[in-house]
Amino acid sequence: MYKSHGFVDADCHWTCSMQSTPGGASGPIGATRSQRRRCYRCLLQLLRLVLVQDAAGRERLAKAAWDQNFIAEAPVAIVFLVDLNEASVRYGLRGRELYSLLDVGAAIENLILAALDYGLGTCWVGAFKEEEVARALNSPPGLRPVSIVSLGHASKQPNEREKKPLEQLLIRERFGET
Ligand SMILES: Cc1cc2nc3c(=O)[nH]c(=O)nc-3n(C[C@H](O)[C@H](O)[C@H](O)COP(=O)(O)O)c2cc1C
Repeated sequence: MYKSHGFVDADCHWTCSMQSTPGGASGPIGATRSQRRRCYRCLLQLLRLVLVQDAAGRERLAKAAWDQNFIAEAPVAIVFLVDLNEASVRYGLRGRELYSLLDVGAAIENLILAALDYGLGTCWVGAFKEEEVARALNSPPGLRPVSIVSLGHASKQPNEREKKPLEQLLIRERFGET
């Protein structure tokens, strides 16, 4: 799974929106599933991942996440951390405060899509006590836990969520023009 979302391949030439598929169609709609999994391969790799399969480890994470017990129940938890020092050295304040989080977000989205292709369910968890997670992982200073993703077979299909209408989210050209 890691290979498919950019942790191994380092080249950044593939883009989701421009590549032609073998069938001739181009763009995201025509892209094959595996190609879509490779969207945004140019991760800055400011992140570190801790794979937690051990039951006691998952329990500790669940507790640190305000007793979100599904973290302990699912067989795998992956904790995404960012290396704040590396982000600062390479990209300054913007790297530390922004790029690091974008990097994690892109990696998680790729992980979720890859998991879906394997028929697995995920839950992206952001509500947790950072210090407690860091303690549970024994992580060195400078690594900030940003998200936990629970991974396993979903016990039920999630209900459709109500989405904001596109017009509310998409601004054409610039704000204030009709
Ligand atoms: C940044 C972020 C943090 C989240 N934190 C939590 C959380 O702590 N606990 C939780 O149950 N869901 C959390 N969620 C929501 C679930 O992951 C949600 O079920 C998932 O985003 C699927 O959304 P959907 O139903 O729109 O597909 C979070 C989502 C995001 C994007």
